[in-house]
Amino acid sequence: MPEIKNPICVAIDTPDLERASFLAQSLKGYVGYLKVGMEFFYAHGQAGYMEMARHGVPMFLDLKLHDIPNTVANGLNALMQLEIAPAIINVHATGGPAMLKAASDAIDGRAKLIAVTILTSLDDDDLKAAGFNPQLNTCAHATNLAKLAQTNGIDGIVCSPHDLQSIRSACGKDFLTVVPGIRPQGVDVQDQKRVATPKSAIENGADILVIGRAITGADNAAVAAQRILESL
Ligand code: C5P
Repeated sequence: MPEIKNPICVAIDTPDLERASFLAQSLKGYVGYLKVGMEFFYAHGQAGYMEMARHGVPMFLDLKLHDIPNTVANGLNALMQLEIAPAIINVHATGGPAMLKAASDAIDGRAKLIAVTILTSLDDDDLKAAGFNPQLNTCAHATNLAKLAQTNGIDGIVCSPHDLQSIRSACGKDFLTVVPGIRPQGVDVQDQKRVATPKSAIENGADILVIGRAITGADNAAVAAQRILESL
């Protein structure tokens, strides 16, 4: 039987190092990836990152780099020097073609390099205010940016479950899709607006599910992760 890789990436959204490390230890064997972002990395630096990475679960270092090509390339190179390098790392697709290409050249296959298209906190009015073409909606902008990222050597994108089908049809089945906004049936939606269940996201082509509070807020995080896995 072919090995089915665990698609759950748990978002460790706490600045509390002790709590983060406890979650990593509890979830080892139940999730495929641990995601730490800027609030964690800026607070605890490489030492904090390494404390998490030593639990042995592949790391997604969610720092969303966005700067000129040379700075992003050098920043990524510095991050890849971590003793346990991240398995997934990301940049903003709006950094443009030269930045995306420089990022891809810098990573050179050492990690999966993915791009953020349109932040899910932005709606059509926000994009219009920022000067984006008002004729296109957020899904169309996200799809265009995904295509731009793919053309410039990026391995995949972060996208809403609601944009999956459009991005899949534009970028094909080998383009990695990393999908937040996941809520198992019956779990509070909280501040997320465009959500899907784990099963429907997978059915619509998600490769990796980014799940935070549905796991980290449960009484027993490992049991919550196990239930989600069984629901797929
Ligand atoms: O707790 P919850 O499952 O909503 O957490 C989702 C995680 O995915 C958080 O770390 C959030 O920052 C991240 N994320 C998101 N939407 C994006 C990109 C990342 O919710 N577009």
